[in-house]
Amino acid sequence: MTQTTKPQPGADLILSLPAPVLPPWNFAHIFGNHHPLEIDAGSGKGRFLLARAKKYPNTNFLGIERQNNRIKKVARKAARVHCHNVRLVKADISFILQNLIRDNSIRTLYIFYPDPWPKRRHHKRRLIQTAFLDLVCQKLQPGGKVHFATDHTDYAAVAKTCMENHDTLTPCDPFMPSPEEKTDFELIFEAHGLYANRFSVQKPFD
Ligand SMILES: C[S@@+](CC[C@H](N)C(=O)[O-])C[C@H]1O[C@@H](n2cnc3c(N)ncnc32)[C@H](O)[C@@H]1O
Repeated sequence: MTQTTKPQPGADLILSLPAPVLPPWNFAHIFGNHHPLEIDAGSGKGRFLLARAKKYPNTNFLGIERQNNRIKKVARKAARVHCHNVRLVKADISFILQNLIRDNSIRTLYIFYPDPWPKRRHHKRRLIQTAFLDLVCQKLQPGGKVHFATDHTDYAAVAKTCMENHDTLTPCDPFMPSPEEKTDFELIFEAHGLYANRFSVQKPFD
């Protein structure tokens, strides 16, 4: 299902600011190594991010989260357990991808339990839309993957269609977390009998 938005009267009178020109982050410098980069988009309270980082010490993990209190808590937990392969940024996911991540550089992007924006008038705020997937595709390395999970059936159906119909990304096996990798929200939803809908897509190797 393609989402179309009606142009608002006067929209053409509003000038857009030019995109800020920022040098992309140099992760080899940030982490001090050339390990692959994986991103947890909307990392929340960090249960998945920290479990994954512990399990794969030779992978670099970036958690992007717009709530400052969550970022600080996860950073404290990471420091306590000497998790050297995690970095966090308090920001909007699209802004970071657009401005600070090099093209063809992400091995895996995890999008677990993103805000479902259930009201119809808020659907345009949902993360999974064709324009966002175009941006993600540009940033994924060849063969790179996006793993998505949600408990929300309506969002799941729309996201599945959008992911499956993408021009370049192709469906691949969904990510199945081990018990310690289940996210904080996944545990909460499961306790209420709500289970994950999982979809994954992959960028072709060439
Ligand atoms: C429902 S929670 C899920 C958190 C975590 N992935 C989990 O499953 O436990 C969604 C999280 O994404 C964050 N978030 C939503 N939209 C975001 C955006 N555009 N940029 C960064 N973080 C975002 C919210 O602040 C929230 O912490």
